[in-house]
Amino acid sequence: MNTLLKGTLYLAVATAVLTGCKKDDDDPVTPTPPAPTPTLYQRLGGTTMVNDPANPGTMIETGYLGLRSVVDSTIFVIAGDAQLQPYFAVLLAEVGSGDLTGFAALSESLTEFFAVACGAQNFTYSGMNMVDAHNSNNPRMTGLVNDADFNRFVADLVEGAAQNDVPADIVTDIGELVETLREPIVQQ
Ligand code: HEM
Repeated sequence: MNTLLKGTLYLAVATAVLTGCKKDDDDPVTPTPPAPTPTLYQRLGGTTMVNDPANPGTMIETGYLGLRSVVDSTIFVIAGDAQLQPYFAVLLAEVGSGDLTGFAALSESLTEFFAVACGAQNFTYSGMNMVDAHNSNNPRMTGLVNDADFNRFVADLVEGAAQNDVPADIVTDIGELVETLREPIVQQ
């Protein structure tokens, strides 16, 4: 290869390498990844610890407290709802006689269920699955749920949420969440 040809070749290679390495000013700035979507539990206040108003001297996660407040309000709404009262006959009879153990157990069980379903990391649900909890495998359940009563339960839940000033967008998303439970719960 003669010197001129060699020189031309070097120049071509060097230009190609330099061009390839050159930072193109037209490149879009590297995009920052979008912030991860917060879970429903985080939107309810998540793991931020606050005083538990029901247990002085005890701290509680804000998300759990919010859900427990909604659950307890909802149980009271249901207790006054003639359409759903028959399902909760065992519970209502206990409460009527001053025994709150079943109420406390249901409150905890429902709250843990919702906490886990909403994305809580520090709680587990150890109750029955949704099919067994809503048929004769649950001795505290009288009768099988139909669509109309499921709808009524959701309406009472929305009322329980409203009593605790839960923001509308969170109520909507909790509504979508419980809708996914219609199929196992409605067994009539
Ligand atoms: C929409 C979503 C619902 C959820 C997430 C839900 C969840 C639960 C949970 C977690 C339990 C406790 C199970 C256990 O501790 O092993 C339970 C019990 C029960 N559920 Fe539901 N449920 C729903 C809808 C309904 C509906 C529509 C009815 C009736 C109309 C109903 C009636 C009952 C009754 C009577 C019990 C037993 C209460 C007691 O312990 O005395 N549930 N449910």
